[in-house]
Amino acid sequence: MPFTAKIDFGYPWWLSYLHLPLMAAAAAFLLLGYVRKWPKWTMFLFGVFFLWSSTAFLIARFMLDINGRASLPTENFLRSGIGRVLDIGAGTGRSSIMVLEARPGATLVALDLFGESFDQHFGHGDSPQQRLLANLKAAGVDRRASIETADMRKLPFEPATFDAIISAYAIDHLNRDGIHQSLAEAARVVKPGGDFLLMVVAKEPWTQFSFGPVMHMGMRGPAWWNDRLREAGFQILEQGTRPGTLYLLARRNAAAGPG
Ligand SMILES: C[S@@+](CC[C@H](N)C(=O)[O-])C[C@H]1O[C@@H](n2cnc3c(N)ncnc32)[C@H](O)[C@@H]1O
Repeated sequence: MPFTAKIDFGYPWWLSYLHLPLMAAAAAFLLLGYVRKWPKWTMFLFGVFFLWSSTAFLIARFMLDINGRASLPTENFLRSGIGRVLDIGAGTGRSSIMVLEARPGATLVALDLFGESFDQHFGHGDSPQQRLLANLKAAGVDRRASIETADMRKLPFEPATFDAIISAYAIDHLNRDGIHQSLAEAARVVKPGGDFLLMVVAKEPWTQFSFGPVMHMGMRGPAWWNDRLREAGFQILEQGTRPGTLYLLARRNAAAGPG
């Protein structure tokens, strides 16, 4: 993979480095307090703050690693290793590259609206599609990928077009109706028996420790997502958490129509 260094997913810097200035400030106050002989309880408080910010930095930078490559949360997704995959809400390509690297025999359609929500996450630029393409090229997977500009609530594909679908940190940005529509659309365009890997931002201990109230975190728990997926016509095969993430692996019911 000769172009690895050029991948730029473009998530905001503070998701990885917010805690560094806090660490530096705590260290500076500890030094100042030592020189000026501040009371022990003040030093203790700054010490705790330093410990929290340095641990939170390590978690954000190396466990969440939002601007780094992601790995599949489950090996059971598209286990055959071949087929046509749809990435719903592909953004700058992190989830698409995750699938294409883990499944070298697969092809993928990276679909995104490339509108306001894209700009909110990745900043406003000339061509979001070009940013996505540049990352796919940098990862060396562009020949197995195509880019589609469309709304996940109304997918421009025939029924049963895809062998598997992935959606990472995208469907959970919609309102309740939007979630309902996009899951129904996913169920429509995936083949019966096809996999759907849904990843959403999760309220789990690592993220809560690092970001607390600063970051929006899964308002809805696993049970809520289980119900929505079943309503749409999927059966749940597996679920779990990773730092910052709840994932659910579901399979399209063989019978047509919502289950
Ligand atoms: C947080 S990003 C996730 C990007 C990528 N999946 C990843 O793992 O990094 C959410 C993406 O969902 C896209 N999105 C939001 N609403 C959408 C919609 N209605 N249709 C298609 N894409 C949408 C946004 O444009 C954005 O790129």
